[in-house]
Amino acid sequence: ARTAAVIPAAGRGVRLGPGAPKALRTLGGIPMLVHAVRAMAASRAVSLVVVVAPPDGAAEVRALLDEFPLAGDRTEVLVVPGGATRQESVSQGLRALPGDVGVVLVHDAARPLVPVDTVDAVVAAVRAGSPAVVPALPLADTVKRVEPRRDGPEPVVATPERALLRAVQTPQGFDRRVLDEAHLAFDDAPGEGATDDAGMVERLGFPVVVVPGHEEAFKVTRPLDLVLAEAVIARRRA
Ligand code: C5P
Repeated sequence: ARTAAVIPAAGRGVRLGPGAPKALRTLGGIPMLVHAVRAMAASRAVSLVVVVAPPDGAAEVRALLDEFPLAGDRTEVLVVPGGATRQESVSQGLRALPGDVGVVLVHDAARPLVPVDTVDAVVAAVRAGSPAVVPALPLADTVKRVEPRRDGPEPVVATPERALLRAVQTPQGFDRRVLDEAHLAFDDAPGEGATDDAGMVERLGFPVVVVPGHEEAFKVTRPLDLVLAEAVIARRRA
Protein backbone atom coordinates (compact mmCIF):
# COMPACT_ATOMS: atom_id res chain seq x y z
CA ALA A 1 0.00 0.00 0.00
CA ARG A 2 1.09 3.56 -0.67
CA THR A 3 2.07 6.20 1.85
CA ALA A 4 0.50 9.65 1.46
CA ALA A 5 0.99 12.93 3.31
CA VAL A 6 -1.86 15.32 4.08
CA ILE A 7 -0.72 18.90 4.68
CA PRO A 8 -3.31 21.14 6.37
CA ALA A 9 -2.47 24.63 5.12
CA ALA A 10 -5.77 26.41 5.55
CA GLY A 11 -4.87 28.41 8.66
CA ARG A 12 -4.74 32.17 8.61
CA GLY A 13 -1.74 32.37 10.93
CA VAL A 14 -3.03 35.33 12.93
CA ARG A 15 -0.36 34.87 15.63
CA LEU A 16 2.32 35.57 13.03
CA GLY A 17 1.02 39.10 12.54
CA PRO A 18 -0.73 40.76 9.59
CA GLY A 19 -0.07 39.66 6.00
CA ALA A 20 -0.70 36.75 3.65
CA PRO A 21 -2.04 33.39 4.94
CA LYS A 22 0.78 31.76 6.88
CA ALA A 23 1.50 28.91 4.47
CA LEU A 24 2.01 31.38 1.62
CA ARG A 25 4.62 33.49 3.43
CA THR A 26 8.10 33.03 2.01
CA LEU A 27 11.16 31.71 3.79
CA GLY A 28 14.42 32.06 1.89
CA GLY A 29 12.32 33.25 -1.07
CA ILE A 30 10.20 30.08 -1.15
CA PRO A 31 6.64 29.84 0.23
CA MET A 32 6.40 27.96 3.54
CA LEU A 33 3.94 25.53 1.99
CA VAL A 34 6.37 24.66 -0.81
CA HIS A 35 9.03 23.89 1.80
CA ALA A 36 6.54 21.62 3.58
CA VAL A 37 5.57 19.77 0.38
CA ARG A 38 9.24 19.30 -0.50
CA ALA A 39 9.95 18.00 3.02
CA MET A 40 7.31 15.27 2.56
CA ALA A 41 8.30 14.48 -1.04
CA ALA A 42 11.92 14.12 0.11
CA SER A 43 10.93 10.81 1.69
CA ARG A 44 11.13 7.98 -0.80
CA ALA A 45 8.18 6.41 0.98
CA VAL A 46 5.81 9.26 0.12
CA SER A 47 4.22 9.02 -3.34
CA LEU A 48 1.27 11.38 -2.84
CA VAL A 49 0.90 14.74 -1.08
CA VAL A 50 -2.56 16.22 -0.49
CA VAL A 51 -2.43 19.93 0.30
CA VAL A 52 -5.48 21.34 2.08
CA ALA A 53 -5.88 24.95 0.99
CA PRO A 54 -7.97 27.74 2.55
CA PRO A 55 -11.68 27.14 1.72
CA ASP A 56 -11.66 29.82 -1.00
CA GLY A 57 -7.98 29.47 -1.95
CA ALA A 58 -7.55 26.14 -3.72
CA ALA A 59 -6.95 27.70 -7.15
CA GLU A 60 -4.38 30.13 -5.76
CA VAL A 61 -2.55 27.34 -3.92
CA ARG A 62 -2.58 25.11 -7.03
CA ALA A 63 -1.08 27.95 -9.08
CA LEU A 64 1.58 28.52 -6.43
CA LEU A 65 2.58 24.86 -6.33
CA ASP A 66 2.76 24.79 -10.12
CA GLU A 67 5.19 27.71 -9.92
CA PHE A 68 7.51 25.63 -7.71
CA PRO A 69 7.31 22.11 -9.21
CA LEU A 70 8.96 19.18 -7.45
CA ALA A 71 12.17 17.82 -8.94
CA GLY A 72 11.32 14.45 -10.53
CA ASP A 73 7.87 12.93 -10.96
CA ARG A 74 7.91 10.41 -8.13
CA THR A 75 5.36 12.36 -6.07
CA GLU A 76 1.86 13.43 -7.06
CA VAL A 77 0.47 16.62 -5.47
CA LEU A 78 -3.28 17.19 -5.07
CA VAL A 79 -4.94 20.35 -3.73
CA VAL A 80 -8.32 20.34 -1.97
CA PRO A 81 -10.19 23.11 -0.12
CA GLY A 82 -10.12 23.01 3.69
CA GLY A 83 -12.43 23.95 6.53
CA ALA A 84 -12.88 26.28 9.48
CA THR A 85 -10.71 24.25 11.87
CA ARG A 86 -7.55 22.22 11.49
CA GLN A 87 -9.53 19.06 12.21
CA GLU A 88 -12.01 19.79 9.42
CA SER A 89 -9.16 20.56 7.06
CA VAL A 90 -7.48 17.22 7.80
CA SER A 91 -10.84 15.44 7.27
CA GLN A 92 -11.13 17.06 3.85
CA GLY A 93 -7.63 15.86 3.01
CA LEU A 94 -8.38 12.29 4.11
CA ARG A 95 -11.47 12.21 1.90
CA ALA A 96 -9.28 12.95 -1.12
CA LEU A 97 -7.03 9.89 -0.58
CA PRO A 98 -7.29 7.05 -3.09
CA GLY A 99 -8.15 3.53 -1.86
CA ASP A 100 -4.63 2.13 -2.15
CA VAL A 101 -3.19 4.45 0.53
CA GLY A 102 -2.40 2.41 3.65
CA VAL A 103 -0.24 4.81 5.66
CA VAL A 104 -1.04 8.50 6.13
CA LEU A 105 1.19 11.24 7.42
CA VAL A 106 -0.41 14.46 8.61
CA HIS A 107 2.04 17.34 8.48
CA ASP A 108 1.51 20.99 9.37
CA ALA A 109 2.41 23.43 6.61
CA ALA A 110 3.67 25.50 9.52
CA ARG A 111 6.58 23.03 10.04
CA PRO A 112 8.38 23.67 6.75
CA LEU A 113 11.86 22.50 7.75
CA VAL A 114 11.33 19.00 9.16
CA PRO A 115 14.31 16.83 8.10
CA VAL A 116 13.66 13.77 5.93
CA ASP A 117 15.13 11.44 8.57
CA THR A 118 12.31 12.40 10.93
CA VAL A 119 9.71 11.73 8.21
CA ASP A 120 11.28 8.35 7.45
CA ALA A 121 11.42 7.38 11.13
CA VAL A 122 7.68 8.04 11.51
CA VAL A 123 6.82 6.03 8.39
CA ALA A 124 9.05 3.17 9.51
CA ALA A 125 7.37 2.98 12.92
CA VAL A 126 3.88 2.82 11.35
CA ARG A 127 5.00 0.17 8.87
CA ALA A 128 6.46 -1.79 11.79
CA GLY A 129 2.96 -2.03 13.28
CA SER A 130 2.17 1.07 15.37
CA PRO A 131 -1.23 2.48 14.39
CA ALA A 132 -0.23 6.01 15.44
CA VAL A 133 3.26 7.55 15.68
CA VAL A 134 4.22 11.07 16.72
CA PRO A 135 7.64 12.70 16.65
CA ALA A 136 8.31 14.65 19.84
CA LEU A 137 11.03 16.27 21.92
CA PRO A 138 11.62 16.72 25.65
CA LEU A 139 10.76 20.19 26.96
CA ALA A 140 13.28 22.89 27.82
CA ASP A 141 10.76 24.83 29.90
CA THR A 142 8.94 23.67 32.98
CA VAL A 143 5.17 23.60 32.36
CA LYS A 144 2.45 24.80 34.75
CA ARG A 145 -1.22 24.00 34.57
CA VAL A 146 -3.19 27.16 35.43
CA GLU A 147 -6.69 28.38 35.94
CA PRO A 148 -6.94 30.78 32.96
CA ARG A 149 -7.76 34.41 33.87
CA ARG A 150 -8.02 37.46 31.70
CA ASP A 151 -7.55 39.92 34.52
CA GLY A 152 -4.64 39.56 36.89
CA PRO A 153 -2.28 36.70 37.78
CA GLU A 154 -3.40 33.15 37.01
CA PRO A 155 -3.43 30.63 39.86
CA VAL A 156 -1.22 27.59 39.33
CA VAL A 157 -3.11 24.32 39.65
CA ALA A 158 -0.34 21.80 39.03
CA THR A 159 3.26 21.35 37.88
CA PRO A 160 3.56 18.16 35.81
CA GLU A 161 6.94 16.44 36.04
CA ARG A 162 8.92 17.80 33.12
CA ALA A 163 10.83 14.58 32.43
CA LEU A 164 7.53 12.87 31.64
CA LEU A 165 6.40 15.47 29.08
CA ARG A 166 7.09 15.69 25.34
CA ALA A 167 6.39 18.49 22.88
CA VAL A 168 4.70 16.93 19.88
CA GLN A 169 5.58 17.75 16.28
CA THR A 170 4.53 16.58 12.84
CA PRO A 171 4.45 14.60 10.58
CA GLN A 172 2.30 12.29 12.66
CA GLY A 173 1.91 8.91 11.02
CA PHE A 174 -1.10 6.59 11.03
CA ASP A 175 -2.55 3.38 9.79
CA ARG A 176 -4.96 4.98 7.35
CA ARG A 177 -8.03 3.06 8.61
CA VAL A 178 -7.39 4.16 12.18
CA LEU A 179 -7.13 7.85 11.29
CA ASP A 180 -10.21 7.64 9.06
CA GLU A 181 -12.11 6.08 11.95
CA ALA A 182 -11.00 8.80 14.36
CA HIS A 183 -12.04 11.57 12.02
CA LEU A 184 -15.41 9.92 11.41
CA ALA A 185 -15.95 9.52 15.15
CA PHE A 186 -15.15 13.15 15.94
CA ASP A 187 -16.45 14.81 12.77
CA ASP A 188 -19.35 16.38 14.62
CA ALA A 189 -17.36 17.14 17.78
CA PRO A 190 -18.04 20.72 18.83
CA GLY A 191 -15.58 23.50 19.64
CA GLU A 192 -12.29 24.31 18.04
CA GLY A 193 -11.57 20.75 16.99
CA ALA A 194 -8.46 18.75 17.80
CA THR A 195 -5.05 20.45 17.53
CA ASP A 196 -3.41 17.06 17.12
CA ASP A 197 -4.53 14.02 15.12
CA ALA A 198 -2.90 11.50 17.43
CA GLY A 199 -5.01 12.88 20.28
CA MET A 200 -8.18 11.82 18.44
CA VAL A 201 -6.80 8.34 17.80
CA GLU A 202 -5.80 8.13 21.46
CA ARG A 203 -9.33 9.03 22.57
CA LEU A 204 -10.61 6.10 20.50
CA GLY A 205 -8.37 3.84 22.56
CA PHE A 206 -5.63 3.03 20.06
CA PRO A 207 -2.02 3.03 21.27
CA VAL A 208 0.04 6.05 20.24
CA VAL A 209 3.84 5.98 20.37
CA VAL A 210 6.49 8.69 20.31
CA VAL A 211 9.68 8.62 18.22
CA PRO A 212 12.41 11.26 18.49
CA GLY A 213 11.48 14.55 16.85
CA HIS A 214 13.91 17.17 15.58
CA GLU A 215 14.65 20.76 16.59
CA GLU A 216 14.27 21.86 12.97
CA ALA A 217 10.70 20.52 12.89
CA PHE A 218 9.61 23.50 15.03
CA LYS A 219 6.34 25.21 14.19
CA VAL A 220 6.47 28.66 12.65
CA THR A 221 3.90 30.40 14.81
CA ARG A 222 5.21 33.76 16.02
CA PRO A 223 7.37 36.43 14.37
CA LEU A 224 10.57 35.18 16.08
CA ASP A 225 10.03 31.77 14.44
CA LEU A 226 10.45 33.44 11.04
CA VAL A 227 13.89 34.67 12.10
CA LEU A 228 14.86 31.18 13.23
CA ALA A 229 13.54 29.58 10.02
CA GLU A 230 15.51 32.02 7.87
CA ALA A 231 18.65 31.20 9.88
CA VAL A 232 18.16 27.44 9.44
CA ILE A 233 17.70 27.87 5.68
CA ALA A 234 20.79 30.09 5.41
CA ARG A 235 22.85 27.49 7.30
CA ARG A 236 21.60 24.70 5.02
CA ARG A 237 22.51 26.71 1.93
CA ALA A 238 25.98 27.63 3.22
O1 C5P B 1 -2.97 27.18 14.03
P1 C5P B 1 -1.94 26.11 14.04
O2 C5P B 1 -0.54 26.67 13.99
O3 C5P B 1 -2.12 25.06 15.10
O4 C5P B 1 -2.14 25.37 12.65
C1 C5P B 1 -1.49 24.16 12.38
C2 C5P B 1 -1.71 23.81 10.92
O5 C5P B 1 -3.10 23.60 10.67
C3 C5P B 1 -1.23 24.91 9.97
O6 C5P B 1 -0.49 24.28 8.93
C4 C5P B 1 -2.53 25.51 9.46
O7 C5P B 1 -2.44 26.01 8.16
C5 C5P B 1 -3.50 24.34 9.54
N1 C5P B 1 -4.91 24.75 9.63
C6 C5P B 1 -5.82 24.33 8.64
N2 C5P B 1 -7.14 24.71 8.69
C7 C5P B 1 -7.56 25.51 9.66
C8 C5P B 1 -6.68 25.94 10.69
C9 C5P B 1 -5.34 25.53 10.65
O8 C5P B 1 -5.43 23.63 7.71
N3 C5P B 1 -8.84 25.90 9.64
